[in-house]
Parts: sequence; C-alpha cells; structure tokens
Amino acid sequence: NNAIGVGLLGLGTVGSGVVKLLEENAPRIFQLIGRRVEIKRILERNPEKARLLGIPPEVLTNRFEDILEDDDIQVVIELLGGIEPARTWMLDALRRGKHVVTANKDVVADYGKELFEAAAAGNADFYFEASVGGGIPIIHALKENLSANKIEEVIGIVNGTTNYILTRMAEESVDFQSVLRSAQEAGYAESDPTADIEGHDAARKIAILASIAFNTRVTTKDVFVEGITKIAPEDINYARELGYVIKLLAIARDNNEDIEVRVHPAFLPQEHPLASVNGVFNAIFVRGNAVGETMFYGQGAGQMPTASAVFGDVMEIVRNLESGSTGRFACTCFLDRKICPIGQIHSK
Ligand code: HSE
Repeated sequence: NNAIGVGLLGLGTVGSGVVKLLEENAPRIFQLIGRRVEIKRILERNPEKARLLGIPPEVLTNRFEDILEDDDIQVVIELLGGIEPARTWMLDALRRGKHVVTANKDVVADYGKELFEAAAAGNADFYFEASVGGGIPIIHALKENLSANKIEEVIGIVNGTTNYILTRMAEESVDFQSVLRSAQEAGYAESDPTADIEGHDAARKIAILASIAFNTRVTTKDVFVEGITKIAPEDINYARELGYVIKLLAIARDNNEDIEVRVHPAFLPQEHPLASVNGVFNAIFVRGNAVGETMFYGQGAGQMPTASAVFGDVMEIVRNLESGSTGRFACTCFLDRKICPIGQIHSK
C-alpha cells in the first residue's frame, strides 16, 4: 500500500468539501500524481458529520496525538480555523516532518515565519493556497509563476461579504444596515460579521499576499484598516456620477524605501479591471515589472472552491515527495523591510 496518508483536522464545510472532492476526482488525481491519497484519520468531535459523508466511525478521533504519532500519515490538512490549537498543532506536525496544508488565514498572517521555520526544522512542506481568495491560485502565482518579477503592487478585492454588500448597495440604492441584514438572512454574511465589515479579514489576507509578493515579513499589525460601515448610498451615487465605483480594496505597494499595506473603501475608476468584480467574487490585481498587469478572479470562499485550493496543495506535496524535493520553500527567509507607518499614505 503506497497510498499517501492524510490526517484531516476539522470536518466542517471545507473539510467535508475536501472529502467530496477526493471522492469525485479520485481517478483524475491518481492519474496525475500516481499515488492514491487516503484520508486515514479525521479529528472531529461531531460523529454525525462523518456519518452523513459515509465515513467509517473508526476514522474519527478526538486526539491530535493519534494523527501526530501515526507514521503512515505524511500530510496534515488543518481546517479548524482560529489561532489555537491550530497554530500549535501545525508547528508540532511540521517539526515532526509532516507536511501541512491549511486554509487558516489568521495563523498564516501572524505566525507565518514561525511556521516556515518549523517546516525548515522538519524538512517539511507548508502550503496555504486556500488562506487567501478561496479557489483563486494567487499564492502559487506570486510564489512561483511571477517570482522573476519585482512585484510593484497587489490590489485585491479579497472579502466576499463586503463586496456583496457594496454591490447590492450600488444596484439597489439601499443602506448598509438593511443589506447586511438581508445578506445574513440569505447566508452570505456571518451572524457575527465584524471581521468582514471592519476590514480585518481583508487585512489578514493582504498581510499574507504582501509577505509573499515582497518576500518581507508583514503581519496584520502592519496593515492600516478601515471597514465599510460608514459607506452610505449617497457616497455610492456620488462616486457613480464621477465615473467611479466604491470597493473595499486591500492594497500592498513596494515603494522602494518602504512597503505600504492598507485596507479601506476606495473610489475605483469604472474602467479599472477590479471595478466589474461584483457580488461574492474576489479578484487580485498584480503589477510586476516584467509581466505588467495581471488579474486573478474567482470564488473567494465556499466549500468546493476552497477544497479545490486545499487539494491542489496536497497534490503538489505528493509531487514533491515523488521527486524528493519536499521542504523546497522551507528556506523562505522573509526580509525585515521598513513598513510604512500605519495611516501614512504615499501618494502615487
Ligand atoms: N468571510 C470571508 C469572506 C470568507 O467574506 O470573504 C472567506 O475567507
């Protein structure tokens, strides 16, 4: 049995999506990587979630040690969310030489350096494509495809909830609170939407993108943040009359002397490629000194788009295992460059 053993932490929406994706696409996945991927253990307290997916009860466990100490598990997929215990468990797994895939933007944004160091110590792979932009392959693009460029700027619409709210406010000329309420009722917004509407979710995501794009350590405390709660329909109408749309933008710029990272609502010219990104969709616009302008568009959240990113990472790890090149990114040593002080904005 030369299957790749996976330990899955969390069988929520995305975890269930990973199980479904593996079931649906198993032949294709096998064809591409030449190894079977087997989810050997799942850390999940609610057995009902496993039963619904037809997962045998013996696969479930309540103890992380059952995954950490199982030598047949080479890859840990962390989908618990939140800082602890996710952070500690990922560090433990990496130091022990297990490869880790996560969708956890909170941990990656603030503890990315620690996690890469643990990966280096364990000669392990650490991948987090799903932490930004759901199914959009932006981390891979910045880390590999665009790595010959000096990246000049990254501008993202990286929060679906706020983009949905702003889109509906523009279309229906209704106020923020009533759109938020109906978005919550329709399940487009969390019952506690604070992190989304105040811009903190986008701040974590742009901290991750800036770190990769500029090979510099950027954490959420480096990001200027203003949310969308003060936007009124009049602001949107006024913007429209002048030829603009209002979007919550996450912006990272390399100003040479420093790096500037911020999240705030902005007037965007109607002809800008990001201006037509509507509803729950996300997009990331990247300018590099060789490639010029590029843009990456797709579903920034949701079960199967996020599972797509998670499983793509698992497959890359299997390829690294096959070619003996695991740990090839573990040497990523983020530079400590000057970050533009919060609230100071360079004019361009
Ligand atoms: N709450 C996030 C959003 C989910 O609205 O985009 C994906 O991180």
